[in-house]
Amino acid sequence: MKSFFITATDTDAGKTFVACALTQALINSGKKVAVYKPIAAGCYQVGEQLVNEDAQLLSQFANCKQSISDVNPIALEEAIAPHIAALNENRKISIDEISQGFSKVTSLQADINITEGAGGWRLPIYINNGLGNDASKHIFLSDFAQDTKQAVILVVNMKLGCLNHALLTYQAIIADGLECIAWIANNASEQPMAYLSENVTSLEQLLPIPKIAQLDFYHEQSMSLKDKINAAATKIDLSHLP
Ligand SMILES: Nc1ncnc2c1ncn2[C@@H]1O[C@H](COP(=O)(O)OP(=O)(O)OP(=O)(O)O)[C@@H](O)[C@H]1O
Ligand SMILES: [Mg+2]
Repeated sequence: MKSFFITATDTDAGKTFVACALTQALINSGKKVAVYKPIAAGCYQVGEQLVNEDAQLLSQFANCKQSISDVNPIALEEAIAPHIAALNENRKISIDEISQGFSKVTSLQADINITEGAGGWRLPIYINNGLGNDASKHIFLSDFAQDTKQAVILVVNMKLGCLNHALLTYQAIIADGLECIAWIANNASEQPMAYLSENVTSLEQLLPIPKIAQLDFYHEQSMSLKDKINAAATKIDLSHLP
């Protein structure tokens, strides 16, 4: 069983889009894939449940039977930094809670587990304000990836500033003792950045890992989001993945 953690240079970079496309590409190659979105901020109420669009989309692509709360155990209502949303709900997010949710995912015995992070690599999930008798340290979502020793895939949103963000993210992953196994150049906005191909080439030279896809922005009104993700799935080169 393999576990890939999808991170990105920033929020809105295309983690969900790419995680779904990668899930579909792996399924097309005959694999059983389970998905996980441990923390989502920005949810809507469905009956008793808070539901998040990323988790819904991921579960539509995966081919394991997973309930929406198993895909996304920590669903926070406000679309803000998760640790602040949690504070507003008088809730403390712990790595234990995230790890327990991950154990449920791994118990499905899929060939591959795909976890979508939240925000970028160093996303705080709990900040110790130094007051009171709370002896715990600051906690980041990257601590979970570290504890579970996941192979990381980096989604780079190709826009001005992405070279710096991509390199810093790559270096932080390596400094955390994890392997960053591949990167994907994603165009998450309609207008491509100036000198796109030169920037992609620069990243190919700077990042010592394979680029497994270069995704255009799919702007066709006639295509559903699912169709766009299916089209993106055909662009992913799985040969570099373990
Ligand atoms: N290559 C693409 N073509 C068309 N639309 C895209 C592409 N990549 C991303 N998008 C769209 O851009 C938006 C942001 O992408 P996405 O939701 O995947 O980002 P994210 O990194 O998962 O964001 P978050 O941090 O909120 O989880 C979404 O509406 C998504 O469908
Ligand atoms: Mg997302």
